[in-house]
Amino acid sequence: MGDKLVIGNWKSNGRRLENEALLTLLCAQALEPNIGVGVCVPYPYLDQVGRLLEGSAVVLGAQDVSAYPDGAYTGEVSVGMLADFGCRYVIVGHSERRALFGESDQMVARKARLALEGGLVPVVCIGETLAERDGGEVASVISRQLEPIWAELDVDDLARIVIAYEPVWAIGTGLSAEPSQVDEVLAFVRQSLSSRSTQADTVKILYGGSVKASTAFDLFSLPDCDGGLIGGASLVAVEFLAICKAAAAVSNNGSVNE
Ligand code: 13P
Repeated sequence: MGDKLVIGNWKSNGRRLENEALLTLLCAQALEPNIGVGVCVPYPYLDQVGRLLEGSAVVLGAQDVSAYPDGAYTGEVSVGMLADFGCRYVIVGHSERRALFGESDQMVARKARLALEGGLVPVVCIGETLAERDGGEVASVISRQLEPIWAELDVDDLARIVIAYEPVWAIGTGLSAEPSQVDEVLAFVRQSLSSRSTQADTVKILYGGSVKASTAFDLFSLPDCDGGLIGGASLVAVEFLAICKAAAAVSNNGSVNE
């Protein structure tokens, strides 16, 4: 566990001028040394953002990757290309991609494996819908999403992934899950990981879904929470910086994950 990790997911947002304004503000602030910070940006801006982040502690990531290598896959962006632009992280299996673009659990696992093989860290997103939660299916949905990941990755690789629990009903709604709800699922994920890997404690498990500066501290203080995957708030420099500050404050408290 150790240092908290805060990753911004810009989703399908950004323009060159806006990106520059946002990152100039972000990079002007000295980030605490005890947190990791990344931004996952749309493909066309990887080059621009990579340049703007040069010399800063903020690292670059993408929001998706092809499930295929280089080759005759029109419209796809391969892991090799992301590595070529200096990406460290790549989000795989975001609920928006699962719901709107038909990504299966198996495809997500395959993307995670390709990312690792290409030297990137996959941020594997999992989470239930409201109907699934109301139907008492949280554990079975999370298990169904995780199983192909466990099957696809070998034990050493498992220790190198990041997992993001993002309940679909909390994404973009302004309604974060309650810390107790998050706590329960994160503990379940950690437990599932422990049954596969002796290094389960070192794997970062993030929470995502309407995280704000005002809720970040309580969420990041949960015993199995290693940070956050931040959507809307990552587009507002002052809000994103405040979330990073909350992460640093939890790390400094030494209250958890030691
Ligand atoms: P919001 O923070 O906008 O709810 O988005 C969360 C998310 O989907 C991050 O990947």
